[in-house]
Amino acid sequence: MKIFLDTANIEKIKEAKDWGILDGVTTNPTLVSREGKNFETIIREILKVVDGPVSLEVISKNWEGMVKEARKLASYGKNVVVKIPMTVDGLKATKVLSSDGINVNTTLIFSPTQSILAAKAGTRYLSPFIGRLDDISSYGMDLVRDIIQILENYSFPCEVIVASVRHPMHVLEAALLGADIVTMPFEVLQKLVKHPLTDIGIERFLKDWEKLKG
Ligand code: G3P
Repeated sequence: MKIFLDTANIEKIKEAKDWGILDGVTTNPTLVSREGKNFETIIREILKVVDGPVSLEVISKNWEGMVKEARKLASYGKNVVVKIPMTVDGLKATKVLSSDGINVNTTLIFSPTQSILAAKAGTRYLSPFIGRLDDISSYGMDLVRDIIQILENYSFPCEVIVASVRHPMHVLEAALLGADIVTMPFEVLQKLVKHPLTDIGIERFLKDWEKLKG
């Protein structure tokens, strides 16, 4: 399973990279706006640090605008993936961009049938938003299961990015389903490391070691 960080914060990205487990980054307009810096500065900083795919989102609502923005974003680096929302215009833009060899990440996917259309339009990545479905009393993980099944049934060459991840159980369930990628906030990544028995174990070993020295 590939681990992406869902953030535009360069310090968090650098830290996760140092852990040796970072495969890519996803951003969205909300995450970028939190950084309070110029968009281009943020992009350049991230692309300097991350070797894997970096998803950057368009803000246009019509397909012509999406395509124009996407081409500019793609020019920043070979590993740029353009995030396009799951709309009719998004599908049109995806068709054009994928034919041009630009990798698309279809975002805001909330139903399995949306994923069929995005896959047919040529998207490279499908991003189902799990936490937001859980928020409205639907099982977000059911969507991931359905999408994985559909991709397998038709051998669509897409990868699933489990997004809107809120806690470690989302990561565990995604891994058990065999999802290709999970993108998560840094705070969730930190929680994956921690176990109280690990801390207690270290403390006990060190105490016993002290006894030996005495
Ligand atoms: O990757 C999508 C993600 O950023 C959305 O997360 O927590 O705003 O639903 P959230």
